[in-house]
Amino acid sequence: MELISKLPNLETTIFSVMSALAKEYNAINLSQGFPDFESDPKLIDLVTQAMKSGYNQYAPMAGVLELRERIAEKYDLLYQSGYHPEAEITITSGATQAISCIISAFIRNNDEVIIFKPAYDCYEPFIELNGGKVIPIQLEYPKYEIDWDTVKQKINAQTKMIIINTPHNPSGRIFSKNDMLKLQGLTKNSNILVLSDEVYEHITFDDEKHQSVCLFPDLKSRSFVVASFGKTFHNTGWKIGYCCAPKELMEEFRKVHQFNVYCVNHPMQIALANYLKESSNYLGLSQFYQEKRDLFLSLISSSRFKFIPSKGTYFQVLDYSEITQEADIEFAKRLAIKHGIASIPLSVFNVNNLDHKVLRFCFAKTSDTLRKAAYILNSI
Ligand SMILES: Cc1ncc(COP(=O)(O)O)c(C=O)c1O
Repeated sequence: MELISKLPNLETTIFSVMSALAKEYNAINLSQGFPDFESDPKLIDLVTQAMKSGYNQYAPMAGVLELRERIAEKYDLLYQSGYHPEAEITITSGATQAISCIISAFIRNNDEVIIFKPAYDCYEPFIELNGGKVIPIQLEYPKYEIDWDTVKQKINAQTKMIIINTPHNPSGRIFSKNDMLKLQGLTKNSNILVLSDEVYEHITFDDEKHQSVCLFPDLKSRSFVVASFGKTFHNTGWKIGYCCAPKELMEEFRKVHQFNVYCVNHPMQIALANYLKESSNYLGLSQFYQEKRDLFLSLISSSRFKFIPSKGTYFQVLDYSEITQEADIEFAKRLAIKHGIASIPLSVFNVNNLDHKVLRFCFAKTSDTLRKAAYILNSI
């Protein structure tokens, strides 16, 4: 049998590679983006209660209505921008499944999709699987700012979608209001859709406000917002997220969603609906992670790593160019194997594996883990 891969160039993701190395060498794992502390016991109790109350069969296709209502209220509260809970919000199996559905629902052969590199690694395979063409725009270290003139030059009649991600993984950069206005201006009067990956919306630092696409009316009219409870409530293993979009876009999304998963975990949706009633459960997240960022950075301030403090997400990029000129993948492997600390080399997310000599570290960890990690980084 001749097997012709649809993704011939795709290798195992760097997250699996580095997490496996961390396990094998018993290294502190600051590579993959997940907390090493538990979700709120109240939320876990709510899941148990929901299971005991019999919510153990299929949930409605678009998600439990109470949960969609709480999400709609959250958008009203934070952005004064409404999404209709019945027609414009769908609960998904993590942000990843939402991203997959959006791209599958709209991207056809030879459609062009603009993405900004370094980029989270699931966008490209989904575009390619659907016959689309990835149009990457490389952002320059250390600021990772978007040159909107370059974006303008890349837009043409084939451009079907632009994917943005703010706060941005892996750089920790956030889009400014001006970025969003530029994007709105460039897409106005076009048929371009925007996929806005906002999974870290509740994690912004130094009093910076998250700039959701839904704050900009013309942008909102062409955009999908993608979110993840895993990032917000410290339970990445639950894989529950959601997607918001205007009705006519959401109708197309659901045509794919209903045959992709049909629906997602029922008792967890009930629990999340109850948990979201208390807005303090997500409003305190920026402060919570800012303390972790500040602790981590103060602990490594006299190390040989250089950095610009992250503005959002729970990632910090560290520049090791004063330590060695080794390729970042090699250096990351050496750190895991010889020094006992795992990170993610940024080159894997860049165009042509451009190597700026930077590694990404996840600081969604206990103070104890961060202290141990800093002790190692200070010794390098
Ligand atoms: C930018 C970004 N988008 C999407 C995801 C996927 O989220 P989920 O685990 O909810 O599928 C992640 C997870 O790391 C991410 O960092």
